[in-house]
Amino acid sequence: MSELHAVRSVLRRQRAHRSFTDQLVDESVITELLELATRAPSAQNSQPWQFVVVQEPARRLAIWQLGARLWESGGAAASKEKLPPTMFDDVAQGLSAGFAQAPVTVVVCADHTRSGHSNAGSSIWPAAQNLMTAATAHGLGTALTTISTILTDELRTIIGLPATVDPLAVIPIGHPAKVLGSSRREPVNEHAHREEYGNVW
Ligand SMILES: Cc1cc2nc3c(=O)[nH]c(=O)nc-3n(C[C@H](O)[C@H](O)[C@H](O)COP(=O)(O)O)c2cc1C
Repeated sequence: MSELHAVRSVLRRQRAHRSFTDQLVDESVITELLELATRAPSAQNSQPWQFVVVQEPARRLAIWQLGARLWESGGAAASKEKLPPTMFDDVAQGLSAGFAQAPVTVVVCADHTRSGHSNAGSSIWPAAQNLMTAATAHGLGTALTTISTILTDELRTIIGLPATVDPLAVIPIGHPAKVLGSSRREPVNEHAHREEYGNVW
């Protein structure tokens, strides 16, 4: 398979997975995903990312229970009108059970002693995307989530974060229990412009 073909295939298959089998992920694979994540760009090559890899079942559950609590106490109501019913059910299932079933949860964090607060996210999201893309290439499922990070202090306590390191995303990693097709996206010409905004690509 050509390199371009492989990249196309992986990027089109990279989806939010919310159901996982109980098959473990090899430690060597986790290490490779982390290494590929760190190939991402960051402002001034500051590399402010810190990845807390959680595999202990009780600790994983505690993290996902934060998201489940927020979902039940307002997140679901706020999302009900915005999401198509199938997606709403899938998101609800992920937060109530599916994400916690993944054998690995990675909390992607920003070290503010390296990034400052204002551009922390800009220097973290490319690494999170690299991690998920590499996982897809390994046949693994992931999902970028942020809901549990809203309860920052509780999440901080669960994984022992110092005050200088903030959690920005929580990503489950595991073997998908469902095969998802290609991602569905609006046509590029609804989101791209030639020279000036409004000149459709
Ligand atoms: C910032 C951000 C936060 C997200 N938070 C959640 C979340 O809390 N729960 C969830 O199930 N999916 C979450 N997602 C995943 C999106 O729902 C998903 O990427 C999007 O709907 C596209 O779906 P697809 O990956 O199936 O193509 C989040 C994605 C982003 C970028």
